Amino acid sequence: MDAQDQKKLFRLAMEAKETSYSPYSKFRVGAALLTKDGTFFKGCNVENSSYGGAICAERTAYVKAVSEGHRQFRALAVSTDQEDFVSPCGICRQFISEFSNAEMPIYFLNNKGEHREFTMGQLLPLAFNLENHIERNHEKS
Ligand code: THU
Repeated sequence: MDAQDQKKLFRLAMEAKETSYSPYSKFRVGAALLTKDGTFFKGCNVENSSYGGAICAERTAYVKAVSEGHRQFRALAVSTDQEDFVSPCGICRQFISEFSNAEMPIYFLNNKGEHREFTMGQLLPLAFNLENHIERNHEKS
């Protein structure tokens, strides 16, 4: 990813927080996703009065992109209002891993716009993926 794309990804991740619907937790999260063909998608967390219905910012961004026909991604950035760097929850890690390889970079942005970079493989080592699933089904039948 070139420096210009990275800058835009970070800006969109910060911007995405602005539409966060988080009246219950008051914890705003924004995400930005860059597809292989250079399209950007934003996502925010969307909560619900039935708390378990909350959807994280990362999954919002992925669902927007995948439902528009994108399945290959170059990078993801996640932003919060916290001074610390906040990393994706377990459900999101599994969700992201469905559409990425172990090398895909994932950036965490804090409230100052500073970032830390990790790879998918670091966030979810030994991930259960589509290949495992297909192999298992073959073994069974
Ligand atoms: N949240 C995200 O959007 N992404 C994460 O990776 C962690 C948590 C949201 C869910 C909920 O709306 C709020 O943050 C507090 O958990």
